[in-house]
Amino acid sequence: SFLDVGKDPVTVLVTGAAGQIGYALVPMIARGEMLGPDQPVIIHMLDIEAAADSLNGVKMELIDAALPLLKGVVATTDVVEACSGVEVAVMVGGFPRKEGMERKDVMSKNVSIYKAHAAALGQHAAPHCKVLVVANPANTNALILKEFAPSIPEKNITCLTRLDHNRALGQISEKLDADVSDVKNVIVWGNHSSSQYPDATHATVNTVAGEKSARELIADDKWLKGEFVARVQERGAVIIKARKMSSALSAASAACDHMRDWLLGTPKGSWVSMGVCSDGSYGIPAGLVYSFPVTCHNGQWSIVKGLKIDEFSREKMDISAKELMEEKTLAYSCLN
Ligand code: NAD
Ligand code: LMR
Repeated sequence: SFLDVGKDPVTVLVTGAAGQIGYALVPMIARGEMLGPDQPVIIHMLDIEAAADSLNGVKMELIDAALPLLKGVVATTDVVEACSGVEVAVMVGGFPRKEGMERKDVMSKNVSIYKAHAAALGQHAAPHCKVLVVANPANTNALILKEFAPSIPEKNITCLTRLDHNRALGQISEKLDADVSDVKNVIVWGNHSSSQYPDATHATVNTVAGEKSARELIADDKWLKGEFVARVQERGAVIIKARKMSSALSAASAACDHMRDWLLGTPKGSWVSMGVCSDGSYGIPAGLVYSFPVTCHNGQWSIVKGLKIDEFSREKMDISAKELMEEKTLAYSCLN
């Protein structure tokens, strides 16, 4: 993979870099939290004309932070300049959901942006560029990007559900008063929306007595099927209500986790959740961008196969797949 070629800088694109996730994310990238503590980076930041001054301010602050890994910063409103030669693209640009809005409300604004950005990435990014879509509706923006950037391998286009995955780990850790790093193998199935299915069936917790099933330790299926699922599904909306803005530091942190694990690999015995192009696994329609449990090696993800799916899970997984099919139809109707 391109990370093996010594320590030449990797060029990373962040779109929407003048926004609140961007402001949290670019210093994380420049400190090595995304590509590793000894990987130099060049950051390309894109935003729209109306945010150009603010974007320049972020560039000045990055320079003022004197970060040793940061070998260059480009702040631009020109999509072609922003996409040129990028090997990692984190697509945050778009219009966020405000209090009281459903993700469907932000659809038409955002899918047309993703169609345009698909063309620019397809023509100007490095051919092996890996793409992470953060902006909502994340799965459907990634689907549009994949369909309008046919020169980028579809395996290289993903969307962020790691935030939901991390939220699920957080809820279990709080419930059991366990260290969050001792909890693993939760799954977020489906859409990055309230139809997602956070599944703790296969989750484990590292205890003094060895690795235990989270389900057995919690011993409360009612909580796992009810409150746990609802809390993770609704967390984004609850944060918006509390902050009057959508989550930013946790989203930026999850974006770093997603890219780092994808490029540098998942630890042995554990998986993470990523929105990826379905190959039909678990009966999810091929071609949809759906969140699955994945392991990563040598810069490639693969869906964890063969997990037992009970009736409760099946129903929840299908509900989210259905929503994604509807979003796809709606997205195309917005583009026409
Ligand atoms: P924000 O409004 O603070 O920032 C978005 C930025 O994108 C703005 O600076 C805006 O000018 C810019 N932008 C708009 N159109 C653009 C275009 N065509 N090209 C380049 N930049 C453009 O929003 P935010 O809070 O940073 O959130 C960004 C996105 O991430 C939203 O869509 C939000 O809903 C989404 N989000 C996703 C997750 C997730 O887990 N997948 C979590 C939180 C937020
Ligand atoms: C989140 O999950 O925090 C974001 O996607 C914001 C939202 O719209 O819910």
